[in-house]
Amino acid sequence: MIGNIESVRKEFARALEQATTREQLEQVRIKYLARNGLVAELFEHMKSLPADQKPQAGKLLNSLKVEVQQAFEEKRNLMEGEGAKNDTLDRTMPGRPRPLGSKHPITQTIDEIRQIFRSMGFSSAYGPEIETDHYNFEALNFPPDHPARDMQDTFFLSPSKSVLLRTHTSPVQIRTMEGQRPPVREIMPGRVYRNEAVSARSLVSFHQVEGLYVDTGVTFSDLKGTLVAFARQFYGKDVRYKFRPTFFPFTEPSADMYISCFLCKGKGCRMCKQNGWLEILGSGMVHPHLFRNVGYDPEKYSGFAFGMGIERIASLRYGVDDIRMFYENDVRFLNQF
Ligand code: PHE
Repeated sequence: MIGNIESVRKEFARALEQATTREQLEQVRIKYLARNGLVAELFEHMKSLPADQKPQAGKLLNSLKVEVQQAFEEKRNLMEGEGAKNDTLDRTMPGRPRPLGSKHPITQTIDEIRQIFRSMGFSSAYGPEIETDHYNFEALNFPPDHPARDMQDTFFLSPSKSVLLRTHTSPVQIRTMEGQRPPVREIMPGRVYRNEAVSARSLVSFHQVEGLYVDTGVTFSDLKGTLVAFARQFYGKDVRYKFRPTFFPFTEPSADMYISCFLCKGKGCRMCKQNGWLEILGSGMVHPHLFRNVGYDPEKYSGFAFGMGIERIASLRYGVDDIRMFYENDVRFLNQF
């Protein structure tokens, strides 16, 4: 008898759980709770038990009856009564997407530049943003009172002006060469600082990617070939380019690289200030003085270096006419990248 009660309890629980429609629920009611259902049948059966077993069986049976009724009512309420009306949870609705952040456009641009140079065998190197006069200027062949120093609008950190915020990533060239023997094939991304008035075209803190290639027999054609390959991958196969002589203390000869304006295809527009060309980087053959400063033999080795401003490159590429926008962290701007 006790075994029967327990199995009815279990069967009922399972049947109730599986009932998902009104009809199924009604079937469960008829089978277990109706006047001639299984619970009633058990009560009937109890009458024929010996007198000494009746109290225990009766107690169990009563609790089964209460339990079954309660569970049934609860389920019915949930399916059609108050419970169903108050249940505003629609389990068939798709989940709400959680907004995911993305990489900053400047980081994306650096990643892309690194990726292109990695495919040409360059790895990445980094240096400190707080530099000494030695690495930022002296070892790069800026003599102490050379006017080129003034052009760099330096933030000095010590009264003697020997500690400063680096004005370019070129000091990493020196640190890299000090740390290894040729061949050297590195690009060096990082943040740089200049004490300039902030405007749509200049910031006090921005990013550069430096490049350095040193080996035996490196020529100016290697410089051109590498930079043209880069420009074609970054700006598109048909990009037109030109190199124009310029001056840097740490390269000789030196050249600025220009590409044809991709907005107007060289016809002249506000982006290229009507002249059809955009300056994208500075470059040149590493000056022999630098090799002497780091203990490389300039008779044996030659190399080229280049440096580009990331905010500038990114603003040209995406047509952003005010580079301050990169740092306002307005998601309406950032979401577009
Ligand atoms: N350091 C130079 C600048 O900041 C760029 C440069 C790097 C030029 C390497 C030549 C070689 O303008």
